[in-house]
Amino acid sequence: MNSFIVHPDEFWAHRVAAFLVDTLQRLLAAQPKREVFAALAGGSTPASVYSYVTLLAPLDFEWQRVHLFVSDERMVPLDHPESNYGMARERLAAARHLHPVATDLPVEQAARQYEQRIRDTVTQVAPSGTPQFDLVLLGLGEDGHTASLFPGSPALAETARLVTPAAHPQSGQARVSFTLPLIAAARQAVFLVSGSTKAMVMRRLWGESSGSTLPAALASDAAQEALWLVSRDAAEHLPAGSSGGGAS
Ligand code: 6PG
Repeated sequence: MNSFIVHPDEFWAHRVAAFLVDTLQRLLAAQPKREVFAALAGGSTPASVYSYVTLLAPLDFEWQRVHLFVSDERMVPLDHPESNYGMARERLAAARHLHPVATDLPVEQAARQYEQRIRDTVTQVAPSGTPQFDLVLLGLGEDGHTASLFPGSPALAETARLVTPAAHPQSGQARVSFTLPLIAAARQAVFLVSGSTKAMVMRRLWGESSGSTLPAALASDAAQEALWLVSRDAAEHLPAGSSGGGAS
């Protein structure tokens, strides 16, 4: 089930961060005897959100019980400006368990090692037997990709592996990415979409007839629950009342 919440542009990052802090606190309170598992979206959109999370998290926030992964990664050094881990590390300074991809390894080996790290760490298991994240944050590319699942890519067709090698279709940049099976196993997928540059792809995904086969639509449809947190300018071409909540 897809639901949408549209936030005014100037408040979007702050409102999304408040939602994430509240969601993590509810998960921590509901599961006092286990850790909570979340995956972070990469790219530029979530950077301000993560900074606000750090500001909004209460001083007694149980970071020690939260394990964070990245839902995809560019195969660059962790201190490289394009590193998704590096971006999250810088902004979520209080996070105690932020698991990087071993980007110094060959991409196939890095994907296998990250998958094993997930299998060893994420103790929650979905009915399918797949490690189950409580929360997977995902972004949206202008071509409809999410994580590093690009339209027509072999990574999109992966049905067995949880983490797979991928490559950016224009730059060829090597990546690793969560696969659809891993996203589908999550309790909730949350898509973070902001900026007028995403308005047309949002229309392609949700404004016309449903049933889009773009990667972000496939991921959203595969998820047990998918929530789209969209800024007003990114939602400007959606028909009024697109399946989901109103502005807040
Ligand atoms: C990445 C991502 C990717 C990103 C979208 C949107 O590593 O690039 O995870 O899926 O979320 O490309 O990127 P922006 O937020 O920079 O527009």
